[in-house]
Formats: sequence, C-alpha cells, structure tokens
Amino acid sequence: MDNIRQANWSDIDILTDLSRRTFSDTFASEYDPADVRQYLEETFSTVQIEDNLSRPESIFFLAYNNPSLSHQPIGYAHLVGNSSVPIVETVSKPVELAQLFVEHRELRKGHGSSLIQACLNYAVENGFETLWLKVGERNERAQAFFNRWGFNQVGNCPFKLGLETRNCCVLLRPVLLS
Ligand SMILES: CC(C)(COP(=O)(O)OP(=O)(O)OC[C@H]1O[C@@H](n2cnc3c(N)ncnc32)[C@H](O)[C@@H]1OP(=O)(O)O)[C@@H](O)C(=O)NCCC(=O)NCCS
Repeated sequence: MDNIRQANWSDIDILTDLSRRTFSDTFASEYDPADVRQYLEETFSTVQIEDNLSRPESIFFLAYNNPSLSHQPIGYAHLVGNSSVPIVETVSKPVELAQLFVEHRELRKGHGSSLIQACLNYAVENGFETLWLKVGERNERAQAFFNRWGFNQVGNCPFKLGLETRNCCVLLRPVLLS
C-alpha cells in the first residue's frame, strides 16, 4: 500500500517518539499532567515497544506523507493478533487494532484510512476474521471514523489513566464485509 510500511527492529526510537507525541497531543489536555507523563513512560517505553516488536503476533505499520517513505512517519497503527475481546465471548479469529494515531497537522488527509486498510489487508493475508478495538466514549472524531469503516459497538470497558477511570466503547467488524 502507498505510503505505508511495516515497522521493524530499527524503528524502536521512531515508534517510541511517535506514539508518545501523538497520544500526548490527543489526550494530555484531558488529564493530570503528572499522570499523563507516567502513563506515557509505562505504555510507550522503549522496553515496551521492544517487547511488542519481538512478539510475532504484534505488528506496527508506519504511515508517511510521501511515497518514497522518507523523513519521519506521520502516523502508525499497532495490531495484536489473537487478543481476546472484552465483553464478547465468541469472536471468530480476532485481531486487535490496539493503537491508531496520526499527527495532528496531518489529520483529514486520508492517512488514517490508509493505515486501517493496511491493517485489513494484513488481517486477510494472515487468516484473521474479526478486527476489533477500544475507543473512548468521548472520542467522537475517532468514533465517526470507525463507524465509516464499518465498525459496530458491542459493549463497553473501562480505561484507567492515573486516578481517573473512563468508559471505552468496544467496536468490531468482520475483516471481510459481505
Ligand atoms: C482517528 C484518526 C486516526 C483518523 O485519522 P485521519 O488521518 O484523520 O483519517 P482520514 O483522513 O483517513 O479520515 C478522517 C476524515 O477526514 C476525511 N478526509 C479524508 N481525506 C480527506 C481529504 N483529502 N480532504 C478532506 N477530508 C478528508 C474523511 O472522510 C474522514 O471523515 P470522517 O472521520 O468523518 O469519516 C485520527 O483522527 C487520529 O489520529 N485521532 C487521534 C488519535 C485517536 O483518537 N485514535 C483512535 C484511538 S482508538
């Protein structure tokens, strides 16, 4: 797919930086700054990214704003195969879209769509049948985006950052829509 490549071991620093920055740009203003710092250090640490890259079922895609894939990536998706869906017990061959983030200056240019298409292609090629994710119930922009991509809400689950616990929607869609 144009402008997208799968991340590899040499991308640890890029992924650490991109994941921290995009999470912070999107959500930092909604939480206590010290709690956000701690969350970023724990969730997007070099060790955590290394661990994710070392597991075969955990895949990152990087998006670029040019077809030669030069300069810094401007978005990423993280897929985790065979991760169980909260709430729903019987889900056929699930793969989780654990993260999908695009730099703020690059929003609404089609990069999120390219990333999700790359995830769907990967899911087809690797025999997964259901793509699922969690999205904050207040995150209306992302919810509109996922609705357009054919996801449906099947339940809710908590998301904890610092002392705050918020509600997430659990969304899923068949990898191949009939
Ligand atoms: C959700 C997210 C990944 C979407 O990424 P994006 O790159 O803006 O996605 P796209 O550009 O492909 O599509 C976004 C919208 O722009 C529109 N769009 C796409 N290309 C466009 C263009 N060239 N001109 C105008 N509009 C365009 C699409 O129709 C789409 O509209 P919709 O959301 O109402 O359906 C992005 O908003 C994001 O990173 N949000 C912050 C992180 C986040 O909340 N992630 C989800 C957490 S689970």
